[in-house]
Amino acid sequence: LLEPVPQLPVLYTSLGFSIFAFLFTIYLVPSLGPTFINANLTGNDLLKTYSTLIPESMGLVCASVYIVTLTLFIPFAFSDALTTPVHSSATAEGITVSEFPHRQLAVYLSSLLSLLTATLLGFLDDVFDIRWRHKLPIPVIASIPLLMVYFAERGNTNVVVPLPLRSLFGTLVNLGPLYYLYMSLLSTFCTNSINILAGINGSEVSQALIIAVSVILNDLLYLPWPIGVRVPVHLLGNNTEIGFGGVWKAGMAFGSKELVERHLFSLYFMLPLVAVCAGFMYHNWYPARAFPGDTLCYMTGMAFAVVGIQAHFSKTLLLFFMPQIFNFILSCPQLFGLVPCPRHRVPRFDPATNLLHPSKAVFERPPSRLTTFILQIFSVLGLTVATPHPKTGLIHETTNLTILNFLLVRLGPMSEKRLVQVLMCVQVAGSVLAFFIRYGLAGLVYDG
Ligand code: UD1
Ligand code: MG
Repeated sequence: LLEPVPQLPVLYTSLGFSIFAFLFTIYLVPSLGPTFINANLTGNDLLKTYSTLIPESMGLVCASVYIVTLTLFIPFAFSDALTTPVHSSATAEGITVSEFPHRQLAVYLSSLLSLLTATLLGFLDDVFDIRWRHKLPIPVIASIPLLMVYFAERGNTNVVVPLPLRSLFGTLVNLGPLYYLYMSLLSTFCTNSINILAGINGSEVSQALIIAVSVILNDLLYLPWPIGVRVPVHLLGNNTEIGFGGVWKAGMAFGSKELVERHLFSLYFMLPLVAVCAGFMYHNWYPARAFPGDTLCYMTGMAFAVVGIQAHFSKTLLLFFMPQIFNFILSCPQLFGLVPCPRHRVPRFDPATNLLHPSKAVFERPPSRLTTFILQIFSVLGLTVATPHPKTGLIHETTNLTILNFLLVRLGPMSEKRLVQVLMCVQVAGSVLAFFIRYGLAGLVYDG
């Protein structure tokens, strides 16, 4: 009954690969900058006094290094299966055959496929500036390989009902196809939500970096650490501790090995992501020498959707996206056309003081009753400042509905560098809160 644990040394290989990925990114981004400029992949830094062209879509370099790293890593991820010959053995229960782990290979390859599609979409968006309404469904298509693999491995479509609601719904509710719809929308959400929380140096890549580190910390909780470390599997309704000392305990509840494998898979995808993001951030930090473009936003967003779906922790993942969820909800009136949405919603730069102020959207026509109502609620909640027209009294302009403008409204004007630091603090605070909700509060609404 003793089964070997998944090879943790492979994790160190992944770490080694990630260090190389970091070094490659930090070296390649500046050296390929002129090539990008020659190819007309450039952008103007909107919040500076100078107008030097900055190489744009350099997320393509990150995505390439990332995908190459993950591809080269495939034989290592399956080194166990490569070194153990396929054999069959007779046991008391009959004949067992140790087979190549095709299921895990399918998970890995379908993830790579989705990442490639997301990178392609991001790059096309950089080159052709696709209208956001048109590009929304594309990540849904990119997620089909993931969903198919999820289906093939009989992925769970049940949700556990919180204790207070059990008298109404029972313990488990099977969402069936709705669960697949939810997972495909997750990929659209993860990719676009990072892209619309953008516009100041370092904002896109720092979000991705902090979310990836949070996912890694969460994964580490599920690894079979040496004696003394309690793993919170009880929260998953599994009253066992994960194996100690490198060997699975006899009689362990079914599912724990799978749990470790899933989180190892997530680590294999997140470690190199942290590496390329950290390498890129060095060049994207204020004052930026390279822009990520939509390529980086789409690639990183899809990487999160991939691990959330394939490693079955999409709800925990969404907890790490709290600032993005806030920014998305705040943005809805502009995204859905109730409030005018300028091409750029970045804060307004005052060259005299070098400070950023909230930027504004101006109404060309009087706002509808619904728009006025929503903006009044947002104003009361302190999320925006809506200015009435001096003559008509109708709302004439409002600060752009993004978390960046919200921070400037609440905290006052600040420099671009300070604003990105504040944004990063918000993201870290969000992750701390996420861990508290997941491992502190979840125990109150779910039983062990
Ligand atoms: C999204 C936002 C848009 C925001 C833009 C900034 C929505 C619906 N869309 O659009 O409001 O203005 O991102 O990225 O919320 N830029 C800088 N400094 C930076 C990063 C980008 O000035 O640190 C500028 C550059 O001019 C760059 C451009 O933003 O060329 C890139 O914009 P792009 O990513 O194409 O905009 P969207 O993703 O369409
Ligand atoms: Mg963008």
